[in-house]
Amino acid sequence: DWTAEHIIDELVSDVQQQVGSGKVLLAISGGVDSSTLGLLLARAVGENLTAVFIDHGLLRLGEREQVEAALKPLGVNLITVDARTEFMDALSGVSDPEEKRKIIGREFIRAFEREARTLGSFDFLAQGTLYPDVIESSGGLHSEKSGAANIKSHHNVGGLPADLNFKLVEPFRTLFKDEVRALARLLGLPEHIRMRHPFPGPGLAIRCLGAISEEKMDILRRVDDIFISGLREFGLYDGCSQALAILTPIQSVGVMGDERTYSYTAALRAVTTDDFMTAEWARLPYDFLATMSNRIVNQVHEINRVVYDITGKPPATIEWE
Ligand code: XMP
Repeated sequence: DWTAEHIIDELVSDVQQQVGSGKVLLAISGGVDSSTLGLLLARAVGENLTAVFIDHGLLRLGEREQVEAALKPLGVNLITVDARTEFMDALSGVSDPEEKRKIIGREFIRAFEREARTLGSFDFLAQGTLYPDVIESSGGLHSEKSGAANIKSHHNVGGLPADLNFKLVEPFRTLFKDEVRALARLLGLPEHIRMRHPFPGPGLAIRCLGAISEEKMDILRRVDDIFISGLREFGLYDGCSQALAILTPIQSVGVMGDERTYSYTAALRAVTTDDFMTAEWARLPYDFLATMSNRIVNQVHEINRVVYDITGKPPATIEWE
């Protein structure tokens, strides 16, 4: 019988059996799967787990602090690596979306490997692979999934470093997302992480169109925070499958007080979907959109125009890059 309590005990003892007194390394992305895995492994092997969170500078406002605050008090031995400069340097001047993804994937593995070597030797690499991932990579669903979604290469953080000799620990291989969420509740993962919308591995870099810069990331982070906090405040967050803010390279004329402005356009996007393969734009209330627009232009001076994306997938994708 599937009860979350029962399955936690079972997973803990399976992990203990597989790992023994070996050292386990885990990459934490801040999402529900890797965070829950961190909590489970901490329960199973304690200090023999080292969880590494790479801050690539493409995260949301306060995300790093939130992840630390969620996991450290629950006994996860968490190390945060500040790799912001490396990522920003590597991405400098790069505007092609696929190129950005490749660079971020490569830099992620570099930073992770470097940290792994610094920390000493590990016997196991833990990954939050879920049952649908197993099916997909074994070819089962692949033909169905090889359409629109695969037009973009999806780099999830946590790609396997090629030349470090790890054995894999994948306790969630038989679980679905909602089952992981059920475990997360019992393991004490805070609700804002447990029920979070998906967030892409390349982070805000693919939501800042074209070449990114420190300054643009800072603008986007503030716009994104107003929108996502607003959705939560107005009780609309859980009704959307995913919501995002995009910083466009468009500059347009506006007026602020009695001054003419020439500033950026931000786009807001929210979708509902079952599988992220197709999606509808979320019919957010006009009054809510009006409030978001006012807050954004009032608080983020680099923005003088806000638009809402009313395109479905297909023909658009959920992300803009
Ligand atoms: P699209 O934009 O293809 O997005 O409609 C579908 C879902 O995939 C996410 N996505 C990514 N996730 N790395 C990720 O980990 C990526 O490069 C990436 N690109 C898109 C997107 O956020 C949405 O949930």
